[in-house]
Amino acid sequence: MSDVFLITAVRSPVGVGKPNGALNPIAPLDLIAHLLRVVPQRAGVDPALVQDVILGCVSPIGEQGANIARLAALKAGFPVEVPGVTLNRMCGSSQQAIHFAAQAIASGDMEIVIAGGIESMSRVPIGSDWPQEWPAEFPYRLVHQGQSAEMMAEKWKLTRDQLDDYAFESHVRAAAATREGRFEREIVPVPVTREGATQMVRVDEGFRPNPDRAKMGALKPVFKEGGVITAGNASQISDGAAAVLLASEVAVKQHGLKPRARIVARVVVGADPELMLTGPIPATRQVLKKAGLALADIGVVEINEAFASVVLAWQKETGADLRRVNPNGGAIALGHPLGASGARLMTTLLHELERRNARYGLQTMCIGHGMATATIIERET
Ligand SMILES: CC(C)(COP(=O)(O)OP(=O)(O)OC[C@H]1O[C@@H](n2cnc3c(N)ncnc32)[C@H](O)[C@@H]1OP(=O)(O)O)[C@@H](O)C(=O)NCCC(=O)NCCS
Repeated sequence: MSDVFLITAVRSPVGVGKPNGALNPIAPLDLIAHLLRVVPQRAGVDPALVQDVILGCVSPIGEQGANIARLAALKAGFPVEVPGVTLNRMCGSSQQAIHFAAQAIASGDMEIVIAGGIESMSRVPIGSDWPQEWPAEFPYRLVHQGQSAEMMAEKWKLTRDQLDDYAFESHVRAAAATREGRFEREIVPVPVTREGATQMVRVDEGFRPNPDRAKMGALKPVFKEGGVITAGNASQISDGAAAVLLASEVAVKQHGLKPRARIVARVVVGADPELMLTGPIPATRQVLKKAGLALADIGVVEINEAFASVVLAWQKETGADLRRVNPNGGAIALGHPLGASGARLMTTLLHELERRNARYGLQTMCIGHGMATATIIERET
């Protein structure tokens, strides 16, 4: 089996997923095509050498439908010989895209693959592709993820204060990272035209530069009367895109590419579909075991902040040191453009490992219907 290397990783800024959000005027096809033009350039790879473009998208319908991966590769000017495929593993979609790309390369089927994701939630809202009626006869109760987040808080005895403290810290970290320019290497600015005027969007829009802890504490619960999940401690509705280029050992040598990290291990797991968001716990255990590592060996963790209760329940189970977890903030502050988040987290993880000169990075995400993805990467020195 070939080793699989991350050669480049980029993302768009994440916009607030509302009609007045920074990225709302740009169609999802144009947003991801914009990144696809940049990725081979930054990697120093001729686009004709890319053997597949695998993109995650959670609402692959309407403007995001008709296999947006293939359309985006064509729109970006890739030769017609470069194929594209869109997949939906819900919130883990573009982490899954990275896994499928890595598996294709490891097996020897392919040498160079782009994996990424796209979601414009302001233009194609979450739920756009859901059935009008959920199946009446189903072996499990199908609940909203916000209700699952409430159940997690109850099961792990997480208080509203604990969740809000965590969410507040996410904003503090995202604001500090942005102020210090930590995202500048990973963000590709996006030209956006609104009412005839074109502006470059360069920074994430969702975080609060001066978060107000008291205001967060006063927000009403959204998913359950008397509950603890609010707009402040849940991930935001967002627009964004991200993409990475992966290559085999052979391709690295043949084309003189510069590997930045190696994919060490990857897993996908299923868990309780009703509690839904617990998957990162077994996924973390399994991926560490596969890699022969302990959590203490991991320099940086990126776990998707779908809800604060997801991260805190995972922390209670794994004993993770929160100082190394989402050090630049997470989806609570930066937003969660569903299909793009997996590649967004991987991009941020890679850059943070480099900034710290750390060795191993772990990424994990909870996924709808009770699943999770996890990946370990090792920075190349
Ligand atoms: C929780 C959720 C329903 C809130 O949606 P929303 O009401 O449109 O959210 P908003 O951003 O408008 O916030 C609502 C209010 O809370 C306030 N607020 C939100 N975050 C805040 C913060 N950190 N500090 C202070 N106030 C905050 C907003 O300012 C807004 O106030 P206003 O009504 O006075 O304008 C939505 O973000 C959501 O569904 N998130 C989860 C998405 C999801 O399920 N993803 C998949 C994961 S599995």
